[in-house]
Amino acid sequence: MDIQLWHEILDPYELAVQELVVKFNHVIKEHHEKGLYSPIEQVTGRVKTVSSILEKMQRKHIPVDEMESQVEDIAGIRIICQFVEDIEKVSELIEQRNDIEIKSEKDYIKHMKPSGYRSYHLIVYYTVETLGGPKRLQAEIQIRTMAMDFWATIEHSLQYKYKSNIPQHIKERLSNAADAIIALDNEMSTVRSEIMDAQNSSQIQINLVTDILNNIENLYKLSNKREVAKIQNEFYKIYALNDLEQLKRFHTQLDIIAEGYRAQAVTDEF
Ligand code: GTP
Ligand code: MG
Repeated sequence: MDIQLWHEILDPYELAVQELVVKFNHVIKEHHEKGLYSPIEQVTGRVKTVSSILEKMQRKHIPVDEMESQVEDIAGIRIICQFVEDIEKVSELIEQRNDIEIKSEKDYIKHMKPSGYRSYHLIVYYTVETLGGPKRLQAEIQIRTMAMDFWATIEHSLQYKYKSNIPQHIKERLSNAADAIIALDNEMSTVRSEIMDAQNSSQIQINLVTDILNNIENLYKLSNKREVAKIQNEFYKIYALNDLEQLKRFHTQLDIIAEGYRAQAVTDEF
């Protein structure tokens, strides 16, 4: 039997985790740039440690040569959402992608684990490019709300502390806390649309202000500085009104002015 070169085995998984984190962060960015609420709040990833891989193989009686096919979570991605409803959105986003193929799904939200654990899990196939050519590997994507994540993090630490033999009275507390998390997620869902609206308009405002200030800076380079200073003062006044509609109108007007100057500058060049 060949010796196992762990670094070589795990290296493509490292790449997969890095790529997937970049890609999901890009999904967040695309939403924000469009002024849209992002169903993904945060994404993290990790490669399973060798010691944890060995522990799992022992626990599940997985032969060494079946490690990569049977240990499905060597590459792990965790996607955190604000609301339960976002989880389905995220799973749809993943389904639609061409670079990720879903192998299986476990819905611990519809079917909570006896521990109280809730999350939506996908096992997926993802291909990375290596010197030896493309390598198709498996990854586990855990999708959960911030509240579910809070519970899972605490429970995980306790499992660690008690070496998985959590005392009964603490298990009961965790079970109560899990119920409270369900209630919290439900309560939050009732204000979801309002929170989404608020976050949408705050993102629209951020994008408008960035755009306006960019335009003003460009104008400053092209045209009469005193005129542009006036425009900037005007912007500060409108900004202070805290009225998104006025800010939108100013943005449009400024676009027209900037367009005029650009046309002028082009004519001047001739
Ligand atoms: P593991 O060997 O633990 O990976 O379980 P599995 O391969 O049989 O799959 P399962 O769907 O049960 O769990 C996958 C992952 O979900 C785990 O590695 C944990 O990250 C998480 N998880 C599952 N159950 C629990 C739980 O009761 N508490 C916490 N905190 N996390 C859990
Ligand atoms: Mg696991």
